[in-house]
Amino acid sequence: MNEDKIVKSFDPAVMRRLVGYLKPYRIQTLIASAALLLLIASELLVPVIIQHAVDNHIMTEIVSIDGLRRDSLILLLLLVGGLAASFVQVYLMSVAGQGIMKNLRVQLLEHTAGQSLAFLGSCPVGSLVTRITNDVETISELFSSVIMTLIKNFLVMIGVIGVLFVLNVRLGTVAVITLPPVIIITLIFRKRARNAYRRVREKISAVNSFLSERVSGMKVVKIFARETEVNRLFGKRNGELLAADFSEMYVFAVFRPLISFMSTFSLAAVIYFGAGLNSRGAVSLGVLIAFLDLVRKFFRPLQQISEQFTVMQSAIAGGERIFDLLDTEDRIPDCGGECRDLDIADGVSLSFEDVKFSYKEGDPVLRGVSFEAAAGETVAIAGYTGSGKSTIANLAARFWDADEGRILISGIESRNLPLQLLRRTVQAVQQDVFLFSGSIRENIALGREFTDQQLLSAAETSMLRPVLDNIDGGLDYQLTEGGTNLSGGQRQLIAFTRVIAHDPPVLILDEATASIDTETEKLIQAGLKNLLENRTAIVIAHRLSTIRDADRILVLSSGKIIESGTHRQLLDADGFYSNLYNLQFGL
Ligand SMILES: Nc1ncnc2c1ncn2[C@@H]1O[C@H](COP(=O)(O)OP(=O)(O)OP(=O)(O)O)[C@@H](O)[C@H]1O
Ligand SMILES: [Mg+2]
Repeated sequence: MNEDKIVKSFDPAVMRRLVGYLKPYRIQTLIASAALLLLIASELLVPVIIQHAVDNHIMTEIVSIDGLRRDSLILLLLLVGGLAASFVQVYLMSVAGQGIMKNLRVQLLEHTAGQSLAFLGSCPVGSLVTRITNDVETISELFSSVIMTLIKNFLVMIGVIGVLFVLNVRLGTVAVITLPPVIIITLIFRKRARNAYRRVREKISAVNSFLSERVSGMKVVKIFARETEVNRLFGKRNGELLAADFSEMYVFAVFRPLISFMSTFSLAAVIYFGAGLNSRGAVSLGVLIAFLDLVRKFFRPLQQISEQFTVMQSAIAGGERIFDLLDTEDRIPDCGGECRDLDIADGVSLSFEDVKFSYKEGDPVLRGVSFEAAAGETVAIAGYTGSGKSTIANLAARFWDADEGRILISGIESRNLPLQLLRRTVQAVQQDVFLFSGSIRENIALGREFTDQQLLSAAETSMLRPVLDNIDGGLDYQLTEGGTNLSGGQRQLIAFTRVIAHDPPVLILDEATASIDTETEKLIQAGLKNLLENRTAIVIAHRLSTIRDADRILVLSSGKIIESGTHRQLLDADGFYSNLYNLQFGL
């Protein structure tokens, strides 16, 4: 996915799709638009009423107090009306903007969670998170303020020109004489601002990704005492960001005074020519005063428009990134038309029939694997690192689909089982346990309802109970992110408890290779034994005891099963297994 895509120019297709999100807020948008028109009308009418008051009630033979009172009342009503309209418009569009933000976030997470592990593995976490947070937020800003303000500013400017000409054609021509240079300046500025903005974005993204990677890898940095080096590299990136920020500021620093200059110039021209016309009776004083207000009203939006274009641009860029993600479909297909049901009463068997698989085409990882684990049997898989053991676990749980061959659950092809049912039937304990921040209870239940009784009995079976008894709060003990406030062995026991509580008929256990102290090792062994009882299990074994207790051992080498049998049989055969076994356990 393209991380820092910045649109070249206004992309109508993306904009159209973004505006589509307003659909559920049709009524709010309609009312807000009406309020906006009222607001614009009141802004344009104020100078007209002032003109009326000056010309008809002040610059007359007799000053008309009644007339002035009436006009003041109208002015007051216009101001209050404008205030109310402004409130209604801002409020309704904020409601829509926030609602769209919420919907988009939910939609993005749902979509992302549905994708295959193959896709998620290829997508940097930081970029996914940015999409679901920052990009969505810019889009919400687009709806809650930018679109309406842009439209308002645009209409006010056109309206001002209209009123100027209605009030007085000659003076109107004088006022708009500065218009062509202003348009040229704005166009140049937009281009400059866009380039500067793009550079800033790139640098921000470089700083962010550098930070997130180094902070999560801080332990490695510390182990090798590379802090100074990290600081130096960060300083460099930060310096580049500063330079980009400066050049963006420079563009604005030139533009704002320029527009302000043009505005004053235009005012001066109106005063100079207006005074002349007034002395000759061609323009009334009221019109002149109204002109001064209108010219200011014309230039004020110009200052804002350019900045709002930048927000719009980043919203469109964010929209493009979000749609990029939403349009990517890489799911494991569900069973579709041929869904089958499963009878788990008498246990479930699992078998592979000549399964071939590769993560990348042309680079086979499994090259024709066949085996069967009958209901209740424990089958161990042994083999060197990289031989494809975890891959077998991934295919059995259907995180990936086999390229060739069949995977059967109690004789039914796993593709033909509803994914939900399959995931409840075959569950894996992964090589590296993942724990979420939260209580131990939440980490075991993972959102399913369990009574304390059930949880504690599962903890009893997995031998987690003694651990729970020794820590503050037991099941309510709060884990830090990744469960770093527990030992590696304790994390394993929590993973076992998870599986025991969820009680799947088929268990895939990818044992952790990390060595564990003998005390925890004993604990884990006992927990493991209980875990494997009464269910079909495929165990990717690194532990001597697990291997020895298995009903059958498969020896995997370069994606093929080269030996199989019981521990005794394989040792007697004096082949690959006995070699591996002697190497690993030094016997
Ligand atoms: N997500 C992936 N994308 C691409 N290649 C992968 C992926 N996961 C594993 N591989 C490759 O597949 C091969 C088998 O990996 P696998 O994880 O199955 O090995 P393993 O037998 O479990 O090793 P270990 O004992 O170290 O856990 C390796 O060569 C690895 O590089
Ligand atoms: Mg592995």
